[in-house]
Amino acid sequence: MERIRWFEEARFGMFIHWGLYSILGRGEWVMYIEKIPKGEYAQLAKQFKPKRFNAKTWVKLASDAGMKYIVLTTRHHDGFCLFDSKVSDFTSVKTAAKRDFVAEYVKACRKYRMKIGFYYSLLDWRFSGYHNREKEPESFKEMVEQAHSQVKELMSNYGKIDILWYDGAWPYDAEAWQSKKLNDMVRKLQPHILINNRSQLPEDFGTPEQHIPTAAPETKFPTHLWESCMTMNDNWGYSAGDKNWKSTRQLIMNLIRCVSGEGNYLLNVGPKPDGTIPLPSIKRLKEIGVWMKENKESIHHAGRAHFEGGMVGLTTAKNNKVYLHVFRWPGEEICLAGVKNKIRSGYLLASNKKVSVTQKGERLFIQGLPQKAPDAIDTVIVLKLR
Ligand code: GLC
Repeated sequence: MERIRWFEEARFGMFIHWGLYSILGRGEWVMYIEKIPKGEYAQLAKQFKPKRFNAKTWVKLASDAGMKYIVLTTRHHDGFCLFDSKVSDFTSVKTAAKRDFVAEYVKACRKYRMKIGFYYSLLDWRFSGYHNREKEPESFKEMVEQAHSQVKELMSNYGKIDILWYDGAWPYDAEAWQSKKLNDMVRKLQPHILINNRSQLPEDFGTPEQHIPTAAPETKFPTHLWESCMTMNDNWGYSAGDKNWKSTRQLIMNLIRCVSGEGNYLLNVGPKPDGTIPLPSIKRLKEIGVWMKENKESIHHAGRAHFEGGMVGLTTAKNNKVYLHVFRWPGEEICLAGVKNKIRSGYLLASNKKVSVTQKGERLFIQGLPQKAPDAIDTVIVLKLR
């Protein structure tokens, strides 16, 4: 289907969690977890004047890392909008910043031909009806109406949008949110859009969070589109104390695991209140970019391979090529089992250097390899099928 093709080909995107909570630097759930009264929380808007925010810097960083789309939190569970809204005063346009950050983001994405995603939280903690629907049905109704109006604004005021990434429907169902009606409206306004599964309706794609679905070799993954969203440390929103950064190797391995299961990898950054992305995230994205520069052929448009990577790593595939991602370099020889295809030739993707391939039954031997891994993280060996 034409509508979903770009998403399957993209494989790699950036998630951005940024809002008032970034000022406190204790994650995007800070208002709820620390029970900050809404009046007190609202005061943060007075301080939200991100001097160093530059959407182009964000988008370029994503683009250089080989990412093909971005999903930005236009509004998280705290209800603060990074866009102009007629139905709320709690926005970056009507408070200190006086800027429509969503508009700036959209413009930068178009400049870099980056596909554009909007994250939008249906729930809004500021409504008492969210916390107690039974007792406060009017407030609940107001919250739902606001969500419908704001989604309409997002779908009407920024040109073509590629992804609508809902969140925060729980604990209520699709009926409570009138999700069917909401999504019918969205599709009328944006016929090409992809919608995730978090309005409590399946729609276009699944969103495993902080994990990558796996399946036994014989079992097929769901044919439905899916995208794993994952953090670089332990938080989505900026968290000053969280130093638990995943290694670049781990992040690249996660990407390959997603592609090898025909899924996408949405990797998160949590910019600081001044609009800059934390240095450890920049460092990792740049390192991923260095690897992607030489090896992106094994990612974009790629999917599941005909056979697995055995002891040394993972495989992805495209057309008549299987890409063997070697994370554990074994020295001069690699043996893969369960290879039913005839292999015509092999070479190292980054250097084009030929390797020798021979087959004995279903065992494939790749020989004449250098003693030391050419790429310390993931050396990709291309195997051409007959
Ligand atoms: C969860 C969290 C939220 C985060 C999201 C990302 O639903 O509530 O803070 O934005 O996951 O997938």
